[in-house]
Amino acid sequence: MATIRDVAKIAQVSISTVSRVLNGTAFVNDEVKKRVEEAMQELAYQPSPAARSLRVNRSRIIGLLISDIQNPFFMSIIQGVEDETHRHDYSLLLCNSNEDPRKEQQYLGVLCAERVAGAIIVPTRERIEAGLDCFHTRNIPLVAVDRRIKDSSIDAVLVDNKAGAREAVAHLIANGYRRIGAITGPKTITTGRERLEGYRQALVEAGIPFDPLLTRSGPFQKESGWQFAQELLALTPPIDALFVGNNMIAMGALNAIHARHLRIPEDIAFVGYDELPWAAPGFDELTTVAQPVYELASTAAQRLFQRLQKTAPLSRQEVILAPKLMIRASSRPKNLVS
Ligand code: RIB
Repeated sequence: MATIRDVAKIAQVSISTVSRVLNGTAFVNDEVKKRVEEAMQELAYQPSPAARSLRVNRSRIIGLLISDIQNPFFMSIIQGVEDETHRHDYSLLLCNSNEDPRKEQQYLGVLCAERVAGAIIVPTRERIEAGLDCFHTRNIPLVAVDRRIKDSSIDAVLVDNKAGAREAVAHLIANGYRRIGAITGPKTITTGRERLEGYRQALVEAGIPFDPLLTRSGPFQKESGWQFAQELLALTPPIDALFVGNNMIAMGALNAIHARHLRIPEDIAFVGYDELPWAAPGFDELTTVAQPVYELASTAAQRLFQRLQKTAPLSRQEVILAPKLMIRASSRPKNLVS
């Protein structure tokens, strides 16, 4: 009976690499993975029943892999998941990918290797490579939250990004603004791409040509907001309004607007995405697209427990919650602004 050691020797890799290929617990490049699989086939290797039985054991731990621990949005995600997890007498194992796909792959491997009972993930991009294989191999349920994974068989709980952005920009247009800039997140992430689509849809519906020179896309960070707002505010003729695709970018954009001594909305109207919980003066006057963050998180956790307890249909489920446009002083009608 061939052993894992024999497979490693034939494939010229370490035993842990063979284990990673077996369990998909971490990223293994295709060439190495192919060598290991060929060695297993050549030796007719079968993992030991004891090792297989170990994989059946389930912890009472739920994994949560968020994408940006410094963003207050994800504090509410953590709270919503943790409340539901605690209610079911489970514990939470929190990981943060910092929007870094490689870190995401490592943590997916850790969560699977730790034999969590289930996991909720905020994907760093629409296409996640092999990192999910281990969960499928071990039948560990997964739920994606806030962002969709393309062509995935796993459940997803999302907010309607396109509708939220479209309503925000249609509101600016209804209030008389015509040269509207947009700063959104990465197009490789559904929340980035779909909010830009919503911006564009609002313009098209109002018969306003979409001008790519008025848009910027980049990381969901303050630095993006600062840099891209500076660029858009330097355009001539000037933009008369700015739509921003998330709270972190909004922070940077607001700093850039204030650095140029521009007044909101007198010099430029402003609509953001996400509530800004920072109570600094001026931030409570911002029109923004509010997301039902706690509900998003608790719904994702409830879906995961339905799968764990097999109390719901096992077919893939996608839940899309509605955002809410909170209209405040920063987008007052243009003709009313002195
Ligand atoms: O600020 C958090 C929100 O912006 C989330 O929707 C996240 O995906 C980012 O797009």
